[in-house]
Amino acid sequence: MIGLRLRHDPGAVEMIRSAVAATTAAHRVGMAITKPGLLEHDIRAAMERELLARGCEPAYGSIVTVHGEVLHNTDYHHRLGPSDLLLADLGGEHRGWASDVTRTWPVQGRFSATQRALYDIVLQAEKEACAKVKPGVRYRDIHLHASLVLTRGLVDEGILRGDPEGLVERGAHALLFPHGVGHILGLDVHDMEDLGDRAGYAQGRTRSDQFGLGFLRLDRDLEPGMVVTIEPGIYLVPAILESERIAGPFLADGTLNKEALARFADVRGIRIEDDVLCTDAEPEILTAAIPKEIADVEAAVGTAAS
Ligand code: GLY
Ligand code: MN
Repeated sequence: MIGLRLRHDPGAVEMIRSAVAATTAAHRVGMAITKPGLLEHDIRAAMERELLARGCEPAYGSIVTVHGEVLHNTDYHHRLGPSDLLLADLGGEHRGWASDVTRTWPVQGRFSATQRALYDIVLQAEKEACAKVKPGVRYRDIHLHASLVLTRGLVDEGILRGDPEGLVERGAHALLFPHGVGHILGLDVHDMEDLGDRAGYAQGRTRSDQFGLGFLRLDRDLEPGMVVTIEPGIYLVPAILESERIAGPFLADGTLNKEALARFADVRGIRIEDDVLCTDAEPEILTAAIPKEIADVEAAVGTAAS
């Protein structure tokens, strides 16, 4: 059964495309109606309405929040402030087939310089990771590559200190990117997660015990017909950054520069997530119609706001 569900036939991919079409409309509407003063509830309701109006329903508990640093946040009561970023992780499900997309946009329609700097890093990591979704590529290597791109950017910004390769080996990136780069997508959003790692991990592979890498949900070699998500992010999570156990060693040896990080307080959490079909040729980004380049996102925000 796992073998059957890992790779999708053309009919299944069509179902996912239908879910993606509704998700695309939802994200566009979410961006369009965003303006300071609304509640997260308002944006969530408008986005989920687009799914429902297209015969879909939410594939999972939507995340629509100005507190993107709270992973899997299902609170929606905050009011959108003018300097906030809004993180929306919301996907439709069509006849059981899921989609799963995250975009992060500025409430006011313009990223601040600090938000832009970190968004650019996440976007670079996301695009490079998407391009690696090819047959025979080990998914963990995509995770590690995304981690390296994020780490290079964080070093350039002075937030981490050291040689990026060495930092990734030690897991320093997980201070700001504490989850895996994605998962399999299909009849469920984290498809077959309820079967444990026998679905997500190839035989003979086990989860790392390193903080961050240990949360990677998928470690298989990719095959045509697989649909995976690619979803790197950068988060300022107080519970991690103030943890003696997790951050302590990186503070003690000067790897983590908290003074530099303090400049980015208006970021909180950025994630960019696409659904990517592995093919015999180039990867197909099924969710490519949802704006993610900075100029496209800025142009899409607030267009419906009066
Ligand atoms: N869309 C939520 C997640 O992938 O965890
Ligand atoms: Mn996901």
